[in-house]
Amino acid sequence: MDLLGDWKRTHHCNALRATDIGKDVVLMGWVLRRRDHGGVIFIDLRDREGITQVVFEPEINPETHAHAHRLRAEYCIAVKGRVRRRPEGMENPKIDTGEIEVEAHELKILNPSKTPPFPLDEEVEVSEVNRLRYRYLDLRRPEMTKALRFRHQVARTARNFLDEHGFVEVETPFLTKSTPEGARDYLVPSRLYPGKFYALPQSPQLFKQILMVAGLDRYYQIVRCFRDEDLRADRQPEFTQLDLEMSFVTEQDVMDLLEGLVAHVFKETLGLELERPFPVLSYDEALSRFGTDRPDLRFGLELVELTDIFRDTGFRVFAEVIKRGGIIKGLSVPHDFSRKELDDLTAFANELGAKGLAWIKVREGNELQSPIVKFFSEEETQKLLEALKPEPGSTIFFVADQPSVVNEVLAELRVELARRLGLIPEGVFKFCWVVDFPLVEWDEEEGRFVAMHHPFTSPKEEDLELLESAPEKVRSRAYDLVLNGIEVGGGSIRIHRPDIQERVFKLLKISPEEAREKFGFLLEALEYGAPPHGGFAFGFDRLIMLMLGRKSIREVIAFPKTQRAQCLLTGAPAPVTMTQLTELHLLPGWEVEKKGS
Ligand code: AMO
Ligand code: AMP
Repeated sequence: MDLLGDWKRTHHCNALRATDIGKDVVLMGWVLRRRDHGGVIFIDLRDREGITQVVFEPEINPETHAHAHRLRAEYCIAVKGRVRRRPEGMENPKIDTGEIEVEAHELKILNPSKTPPFPLDEEVEVSEVNRLRYRYLDLRRPEMTKALRFRHQVARTARNFLDEHGFVEVETPFLTKSTPEGARDYLVPSRLYPGKFYALPQSPQLFKQILMVAGLDRYYQIVRCFRDEDLRADRQPEFTQLDLEMSFVTEQDVMDLLEGLVAHVFKETLGLELERPFPVLSYDEALSRFGTDRPDLRFGLELVELTDIFRDTGFRVFAEVIKRGGIIKGLSVPHDFSRKELDDLTAFANELGAKGLAWIKVREGNELQSPIVKFFSEEETQKLLEALKPEPGSTIFFVADQPSVVNEVLAELRVELARRLGLIPEGVFKFCWVVDFPLVEWDEEEGRFVAMHHPFTSPKEEDLELLESAPEKVRSRAYDLVLNGIEVGGGSIRIHRPDIQERVFKLLKISPEEAREKFGFLLEALEYGAPPHGGFAFGFDRLIMLMLGRKSIREVIAFPKTQRAQCLLTGAPAPVTMTQLTELHLLPGWEVEKKGS
């Protein structure tokens, strides 16, 4: 017989209120806690919506009460009973159902549970390995249920917005051809074509461009992307993009639409009104003021360029660096650090590649304390203080080195200092756009220019003439969206003319043959009246992580992989059978087999 019989659930576990007192109800869910109080048994019954207290008393139904003795954590049960007011003083204001309880008349144990490997009460810290291994239990925890449901809400809200703005959701293939997006591909061997492979897409980039050529005008997709790269807290081998593309637009059109989308989503899901328009920083300005193209605008501590002040300095360390084309930048921090803290910070800077971290403590009346000011001229010191304007009680830090080192070290130091000094406000969302990226950057290892975004990003019209003569000076029509110091998305206006696409490939040392072979289909499509177009992709997991204030995207993905790219729930990646390998022609000898057939 069906265990449920004629029992029908009447309410979820967060539905009943004082106005329901006296009603007969049927609840179903899991036992979160069981407490025995002198013959009376209390159960906190939990489902995805919340908790309702259920009371088993021997006087009401001795059989049911006896049955309730068997209940343990995570048993799945159904309870028939009546809603009643909790005795005075026993209300629990922490839960929505805290005014009432359900007096149990009948109980069905729908399924017992083994003792869970970790308690599901929120207060307890559980190792991530265990949480991923028993993800079905972990996901029962309210904070995880909340994350998944919030993610759903954001997706739904975004879909509605995009639908209202004329976007069409189109699915693009997963079994496709390797496209160059920078990371390593995941490959899928072909059974029908020995030695040939599909690649899982790193993004739908080329397909969405083709959809524009096809006249679709506005496309979007919430789509999985696959990249075999080194993992971090905000990177997964498969992650989700909210991906879109538009025809007949400029960067401003795309950015306006995206701001509207983000503002709408924040309003609808978090009830927050974002400050608009989002600030726009050029790549150069972001690097100069924050040392990074992902500036965190929730706090100050901006970097200041000091190279000019020290052009003729007698301080050997700085003079040497400047002579070799290096720069000097500094920042002023409103805090007096101890000797030990300064040593710590120096070690932190060294770890990031700095050769040293110079510091000056600024006392009342601009009295300076530092191992290096004695090497500065009066004028240098004066100009330094004018440039940084330190409050009394502040400490100034400098790094002198090649620009990339200075920026990287000070960018990290800036965030580290803000963290240590508690300067980062909670619950604040600071967006900014970063634009005017260089089209290409020099890759030492490969000995060639590589695309800063991807090879389909359009150069700025006015910089086109520099494409061959001074490629490093060419700016692109790309834009990144940064939230609280994390890149949440990026996009660009694309190249829609085959001649320019060919010039860019040439610059990237992609030969015409290679270009034909790898993305001939795109080049060909561009020859059939491709419209001007551009688009964008959000890192959807990152966006949700930031909106919920979580530390890792694994916290907002139902079934994430570990930092070592394993799925602890299923055990993937896993070995496969010899038969499978043979069918896929992956065993040595498939050549022979082919010849024989
Ligand atoms: P891009 O490569 O910048 O652009 O990716 C867009 C956004 O996706 C997120 N992201 C990731 N999130 C989690 N794990 C990863 N491994 C990972 N890699 C990237 C980032 C990033 O900003 N096709 C272009 C978009 C376009 O030009 O329209 C693209 O994929 O938040
Ligand atoms: P030195 O003469 O090497 O002992 O350095 C004197 C001071 O300058 C020390 O406080 C170092 O930390 C600092 N210093 C050395 N090299 C650098 C550098 N590249 N950038 C900033 N400070 C430095």
